[in-house]
Amino acid sequence: MELKIAVLPGDGIGAEVINAGMKVLGAVAQKFGHTIKAEHGDIGWAALDNGHKTALPPATKELCARSQAIFFGAVGLPDRDKTLPLQERPERVALLELRKGLFANLRHVVLPKNLSHLCPLKPQIIEKGIDIMIIRELTGGLYYGQPQGVTGTAPDRKAVDTMAYSEMEIRRILKVGFETARKRRKRLLSVDKANILATSQLWRELSTAMAKEYPDVAVEHMYVDNASMQLLRRPSEFDVIVTENTFGDILSDEASMLAGSIGLVPSACLGNEFLATYDPAAKNLPRATPFYEPIHGSAPDIAGKDLANPIATILTGSMMLRYTFNLQKEADAIDAATNAVLNEGKTLTGDLGGKSKCSEVTAAVIAKL
Ligand SMILES: NC(=O)c1ccc[n+]([C@@H]2O[C@H](COP(=O)([O-])OP(=O)(O)OC[C@H]3O[C@@H](n4cnc5c(N)ncnc54)[C@H](O)[C@@H]3O)[C@@H](O)[C@H]2O)c1
Repeated sequence: MELKIAVLPGDGIGAEVINAGMKVLGAVAQKFGHTIKAEHGDIGWAALDNGHKTALPPATKELCARSQAIFFGAVGLPDRDKTLPLQERPERVALLELRKGLFANLRHVVLPKNLSHLCPLKPQIIEKGIDIMIIRELTGGLYYGQPQGVTGTAPDRKAVDTMAYSEMEIRRILKVGFETARKRRKRLLSVDKANILATSQLWRELSTAMAKEYPDVAVEHMYVDNASMQLLRRPSEFDVIVTENTFGDILSDEASMLAGSIGLVPSACLGNEFLATYDPAAKNLPRATPFYEPIHGSAPDIAGKDLANPIATILTGSMMLRYTFNLQKEADAIDAATNAVLNEGKTLTGDLGGKSKCSEVTAAVIAKL
């Protein structure tokens, strides 16, 4: 199989971790007989420094549009960001544009057994391990609903945000939740605030109805305030969590902390193309290239020193194989190799209490493959 990937390292540690991720993808491709057609694109400050007029040059946009997946490092350098107006800053220009149309954000939070001491929770709470896929709706809800803004003059100004969801928007993200659960441990937690919010009442009604189409998936409904507590009380019991944009923003950050380091958490933004693998009707809907990135930023404090933890990016590559290319065995191989390195505990970066370099961890993962 040929995999056409747009590779966008970006700023800070982006270049180091994407280099690591591509090496691992290359090794897996070789092992399983695939060809990677990778084209690199400029993005972020790296693009501006390379003479482009914006942080997302037209050539990079075109590259992304004609690729099957985007493999992204990070953009933004706080000291330099300050010199630009908000709307021209790399994170805003690049991320908003490239994620357009991608309505499902998946974060995979796994706590490796050997690293349970890095989790902020007590040993007795996490002894059964943590492996949660958190799915956040990304293009609707409070962040985009209209009206939005501040009206009037001080001291009598009024601010308004609107939480709005159509049935279509709720159904498609729930579908991603159910289908993902079906491929994992078949447990889905649907999070809402149906005791207060109209959008959540619709969400609860639709998720209850969709559960009938998935008798093999055990569904639990929970209010968001309770979910934020249960995530800390019994994290081992959660498999897939699906929720709307604002709740997902907060819960996914909370969940990420359970992995022990920001350098361990991969993510994906998926849209209609992913939906079409389950729902033939989605085949005719507009396409947006799936976007894969580690959840961390450009970490300028450790950039250029070969100190960054590459695991989040390596696992992001695994998500890309699994969700865009449907290469399950290949993705399993990366996950297993990564897990072996983490649990062996001999080759770990500084954020995990080790002394190894980014390049050494990458080599160790490849050796396990
Ligand atoms: N998607 C993105 O491109 C994205 C996401 C978040 C932040 N940012 C940008 O990145 C810049 C830095 O942001 P920040 O400092 O708030 O967040 P950050 O994630 O870059 O760093 C936070 C802390 O975590 C550490 N860290 C992060 N990734 C690591 C890794 N792989 N291995 C080891 N340690 C790691 C850093 O050294 C730092 O101490 C800012 O310009 C911000 O806007 C970009």
